[in-house]
Amino acid sequence: MGADGIVLVTGGSRGIGAATATLLAEQGRRVVIADIAPEPLAGTPAILWPAPFDVADETAVASGIAGIEAAHGPITGLVNSAGVFGKMHPVERVRMDQWDREVNIDLRGTFLVARGVGVRMAARRHGAIVNVASVAGMTSGPIHAYTAAKAGVIQITQTLAAEWGRTGVRVNAVSPGFTRTAALEAGIASGALNKRLLESPTALNRMVEPIEVAQAIAWLLSPMSSGVTGINLPVDAGFIAGSTWAAYGGLPEASGA
Ligand SMILES: NC(=O)c1ccc[n+]([C@@H]2O[C@H](COP(=O)([O-])OP(=O)(O)OC[C@H]3O[C@@H](n4cnc5c(N)ncnc54)[C@H](O)[C@@H]3O)[C@@H](O)[C@H]2O)c1
Repeated sequence: MGADGIVLVTGGSRGIGAATATLLAEQGRRVVIADIAPEPLAGTPAILWPAPFDVADETAVASGIAGIEAAHGPITGLVNSAGVFGKMHPVERVRMDQWDREVNIDLRGTFLVARGVGVRMAARRHGAIVNVASVAGMTSGPIHAYTAAKAGVIQITQTLAAEWGRTGVRVNAVSPGFTRTAALEAGIASGALNKRLLESPTALNRMVEPIEVAQAIAWLLSPMSSGVTGINLPVDAGFIAGSTWAAYGGLPEASGA
C-alpha cells in the first residue's frame, strides 16, 4: 500500500484507536478518526470527522463513509477499533438487550464498516483493513456476548480476506490482551478489575500498552506485511501462552544475573 489516500480509524477518539491514529499520523499517513462520541486528539494532525459515527447504524455507516471519502479522498487503510466491553455475568443473568448491544457494535458494526469500505477498496484494487478483535474471542470468560462477538470478528476477517484477496485488498485482525487504556484503568480504580489478576497469567507479567497494539496495526496496514492476509495477530504480552501454566504450578520467575 502506498502513502496515498487516507486511513479511517473508527473508535479513534479514545484508547487503542486514538493510539493508532496518533502513531499513523506521526508516520506521515493522513488519518481521519470517526467515533460515536467524537473528540479531537490533542497534539496530532489526525482529522476529526465531527459528526457522531455509529458503527452499528447501517444507514449512518453508508452515508458516513461516502461523506468522509467526498471530503478527504479515498480510504486506503481502515482500522476498526470502535467497540464496547463485555459485561460480566453468570450465564443465567445475561440480559439479551446487553447481548444485542455488544454483538451489534462489536461484530455487526465491524462487519458494516469493513464491508462499506472494503467494497470501495476492492473496486479500486487497493487497500488494507485491520479489525480489532480480542484474546477474549480466542479463549473463554464470563462475558458471553463479547467472546462470541470477538470470535465472530476473527472469522469475518478470514472471510473478507478471501472475498477480496484477488483484488489485492488485505484484511487482518489483531487480538489485544488486557490493554492499559483509560477505560481499563478506570475499571481497576473502581475495584471491578484486579490489576494483579490481569497481569500474572501473562508470560511478560504485565498488561499491553495501547501503543503496542497500535504498532502491530501499523505493520498490518503497511507494505511491510504485503504477504499477510486473513490472520489474527495476538498482541497480548503472552496471555494465551502463559494462562494455562497455573495448572502446572505457575510461570517461572526470572532467574540468574
Ligand atoms: N482495552 C483492552 O483491554 C482491550 C482488549 C482487547 C480488545 N479490545 C478492543 O479494542 C477496541 C478498542 O477498545 P479500547 O480499549 O480502546 O476502548 P475505549 O473505550 O477506550 O475506546 C473505544 C472507542 O470506541 C467508541 N465507540 C463505542 N461504541 C461505538 C459505536 N457504536 N460507534 C462508533 N464508535 C464507538 C468509543 O466512543 C471509544 O472512543 C475494542 O474493539 C475493544 O473491544 C480492548
